[in-house]
Amino acid sequence: MFFPLSLLEIRESTETIRLYDFKSTLMGNELSQQISEFYDASSELWEKIWGEHMHHGYYGREGNYKIERRQAQIDLIEELLFWAGVTLENPPQNIIDVGCGIGGSTLYLAKKFGAKAKGITLSPVQASRANERARGKGLQERVEFQVANALEMPFVDNSFDLVWSLESGEHMPDKTKFLQECYRVLQPGGKLILATWCHRETSILGELTTREIKHLEEIYRVYCLPYVIALSEYKDIAKSCGFKNIKADDWSTAVAPFWDAVIDSAFNLEAVTGLVKAGWQTIESALSLNLMSRGYSRGLIRYGLIYGTK
Ligand SMILES: C[S@@+](CC[C@H](N)C(=O)[O-])C[C@H]1O[C@@H](n2cnc3c(N)ncnc32)[C@H](O)[C@@H]1O
Repeated sequence: MFFPLSLLEIRESTETIRLYDFKSTLMGNELSQQISEFYDASSELWEKIWGEHMHHGYYGREGNYKIERRQAQIDLIEELLFWAGVTLENPPQNIIDVGCGIGGSTLYLAKKFGAKAKGITLSPVQASRANERARGKGLQERVEFQVANALEMPFVDNSFDLVWSLESGEHMPDKTKFLQECYRVLQPGGKLILATWCHRETSILGELTTREIKHLEEIYRVYCLPYVIALSEYKDIAKSCGFKNIKADDWSTAVAPFWDAVIDSAFNLEAVTGLVKAGWQTIESALSLNLMSRGYSRGLIRYGLIYGTK
């Protein structure tokens, strides 16, 4: 997720500024409520400034392609499909987008594959906007969005042939339950494609340092996350849930340039400038956006992919 709390606070600068005292241990209903409010409050502004996709962009395997940010976000979807071997020759027909935002990739995938799709989000504002966008594209007969918790999906077993989840895993307070649910709703033979924020591997480079933990905690607070884990942990969890043909990949280098593009646009766009009243903490906002790019450059934040079949 991208919308930094400090920019959210800019929007609310004429009202009471809500300071989220977000603890990494926050779990359950309270966390769901915070995430819901967070996206309810920020999604409209995000869409206005950055568009319908709330995920990283892809800048080539080495992160050196010079691509316009929105195109890079679409390229990420296409590269993920390619990586997972999902093509027009074997198109998914029934997709669930877990943590769908305002339906950026849900609608893209439904259109590309001529598929039915459902999207779930914790945010009523996002679900409503996503349904509106589906109607705008004439896709309302086969694409539907609803408010639902990924940890208790309101779908019977074996419902979908593609479970797609871009950058919502980091919000999940129970990563095992999350992947168990993804597995449960997947049809036999179906595919999971998951992209999520991770921290670096501790088995290779040693335990996280106090400084790294502090850096992560700041990211958790700003972006409404309970905690993140290493990619190898996701892989182990996927295996324990029963997924087969599991593969994992680290695309940190490919996506890291995204944050500089966001920072540039945040401070060049009139829309945001207009929201910054009387010099409200512009510096803090910049620092918040910078948390992720610094996280990547330190090797602390990793962008992990998991693929598996049922
Ligand atoms: C960063 S946004 C990603 C949106 C979308 N995947 C995209 O790429 O545009 C994270 C999304 O995860 C959703 N989310 C977080 N925790 C969730 C949960 N427990 N159940 C359902 N959705 C959740 C949020 O509501 C939000 O829509």
